[in-house]
Amino acid sequence: MSRPDKHELSTLSFNTLSVHGGNEIDKTSGAIRTPIVMANSYLLPYDPSTMDWSDTEAPSYTRNSGHNQICLQRKLAAMEGGKDAAVFATGVAALHAVFFTFLKSGDHVIVGDVTYEAVWRLFAELLPQRYKIEATFVDMGDMEAVRAAVRPNTKLIHTETIANPTTKVADIATLVSIARQAGALLSVDSTFTPPPFFRPLALGADLVIHSLTKYINGHGDAMGGVVVGSKELIHHVKADALVDLGGTISPFNAWLITRGSVTLPLRLKQQFATAQVVADNLARDERVAYVTYPGLESHDQHQLAKAQFAGKGYGGVMAFAVEGDPDAQNRFVSNLKVITSAVSLGHDETLIVHVGGSGRGGAERYPLNFQKYGHLRLSIGLEDPEDLIADIKNALDETFGRS
Ligand SMILES: Cc1ncc(COP(=O)(O)O)c(C=O)c1O
Repeated sequence: MSRPDKHELSTLSFNTLSVHGGNEIDKTSGAIRTPIVMANSYLLPYDPSTMDWSDTEAPSYTRNSGHNQICLQRKLAAMEGGKDAAVFATGVAALHAVFFTFLKSGDHVIVGDVTYEAVWRLFAELLPQRYKIEATFVDMGDMEAVRAAVRPNTKLIHTETIANPTTKVADIATLVSIARQAGALLSVDSTFTPPPFFRPLALGADLVIHSLTKYINGHGDAMGGVVVGSKELIHHVKADALVDLGGTISPFNAWLITRGSVTLPLRLKQQFATAQVVADNLARDERVAYVTYPGLESHDQHQLAKAQFAGKGYGGVMAFAVEGDPDAQNRFVSNLKVITSAVSLGHDETLIVHVGGSGRGGAERYPLNFQKYGHLRLSIGLEDPEDLIADIKNALDETFGRS
């Protein structure tokens, strides 16, 4: 009796893959769950002196690869429809691994003007100042602006599928064609849109990155990141960024994420359906100043989102604000009882964070209503929608006085 091997995984349908991927029968104990292998080192062959010490295939040293990392990598590569994957300790380590591996001094990058904060700072400050990498920040809702930003030295276009926190949607198929014409790679942070919901590689993206901390683990108890792509590109990511920069995920976290991802398709279905209901409710309440969610017809890219995500939903994250000043936002959040005030997203519990009007990049990157009211980022969990709606209604009543 054996499990599907790594070649067979890609032939499985998604729910089956989510259950069986990365889970092997343990040869020593016969256990039908892959054990956590907490070892820094693996037994060397008779003559190790000719070994490639940077090898990331056969486990020798856990910074390069270990049993639980290999199991998770195989599963995630199959889930995203890639040939290989490299897992890291955090999503930011995975993002940095891509930028470090594929960019050098004098190269130019086109990056979304609204991105996860760490990416913004890497391209606005750290990589230009330290390594002379040039970056142009572009509105990823405006494909003409992306086209116009291409330069002879453009080597990478980097975007989020749905931008954190404005929920702007990038048109991945058009970005693929712009990147191809430019001779650049396209890397897509698909953290808000995990498989099977969306698969950027199928549209021609070169690299897909996830913060595993979010939906793929889904239980808010382990951090991780992944880069998925072709064998050749991932070989470079592993050789340069994993072996020689470190940033390796722990075996325990790799195991937790392999387990958490078993329920990914079920969780996404429920979370995305609940998000639509909650967004519709917020949009109807006159005490709410604005809501931005790709599933609302008022969203600038609702039609693009509908076509790109094939009517399967619009993600689980929205941004909104209640009428009033920043303290009104704080009062509203402090009146919530089911929804928790905490950073992160894609967890099993619904999380809200009052981010304010601007991130590190300054308020001008954000839409006017974000600048005027600030914003609350809401990530929908697995609770029943009626409890979330009641919690929001009660908190609004408390904040504004019952009518
Ligand atoms: C879209 C996106 N990418 C990357 C990250 C970073 O992931 P991590 O916190 O696992 O480093 C985040 C974190 O919120 C995110 O929202």
